[in-house]
Amino acid sequence: MSSVTVVDHPLIQHKLSIMRDKQTSTASFRRLLREIAHLLCYEVMRDLELESNPIETPMGKMEAVKLKGKKLVFASILRAGNGLLEGMLDLVPAARVAHIGLYRDHETLQPVEYYFKAPSDIADRFIIVVDPMLATANSAIAAVERLKGRGANNLRFLCLLAAPEGVEAFTKAHPDVPVFTAAIDSHLNDKGYIVPGLGDAGDRMYGTK
Ligand code: PRP
Ligand code: URA
Repeated sequence: MSSVTVVDHPLIQHKLSIMRDKQTSTASFRRLLREIAHLLCYEVMRDLELESNPIETPMGKMEAVKLKGKKLVFASILRAGNGLLEGMLDLVPAARVAHIGLYRDHETLQPVEYYFKAPSDIADRFIIVVDPMLATANSAIAAVERLKGRGANNLRFLCLLAAPEGVEAFTKAHPDVPVFTAAIDSHLNDKGYIVPGLGDAGDRMYGTK
């Protein structure tokens, strides 16, 4: 089974509670997701590889460490994944980006793919797949399968909110992919929504409901 890390820093929990509130505006929802992405990004990349190079400060020479940024790919599950993606790119602007267009069929809760574009050399890269919601996990499982089908073998999955059912399904399907989330909620309802959750993340981000 893959590892599951709940990043329950008070700042994240505070911002997440505002996002959950149905009175929160679209603009605030988007801004908060971007801010939380900064904080989650910090944790998901805690053990990232560094490389050292000589530089000169005003006081003298030193070996300075920097991220091996070019080896990173952020893979966003559209649409809502872009909310996390933007925050991640604020912190790591050199990362490459993959877009995986999936929507959940409302009847079957199965993902339907409508777009896929990823860097050609993902087999050599460290990939962080981002989507705010892990509900049944059908979308996240399919996205990771798609990336593995293109040779990816070093992946993490980052979300904002997860259902226990989704965590179980995802870790069973991809035991090699560590999961990072800000919270694991109570359960899924009969329509596959996370309870108490925050509703439909894509609709709340883009004001489409
Ligand atoms: C939401 C969410 C995930 C998926 C999670 O996307 O962003 O991708 O549902 O549900 P699952 O774990 O049961 O698969 P949605 O299909 O609503 O598409 P959208 O982002 O375009 O609104
Ligand atoms: N997708 C969402 O956006 N919200 C949920 O609660 C479940 C799936």
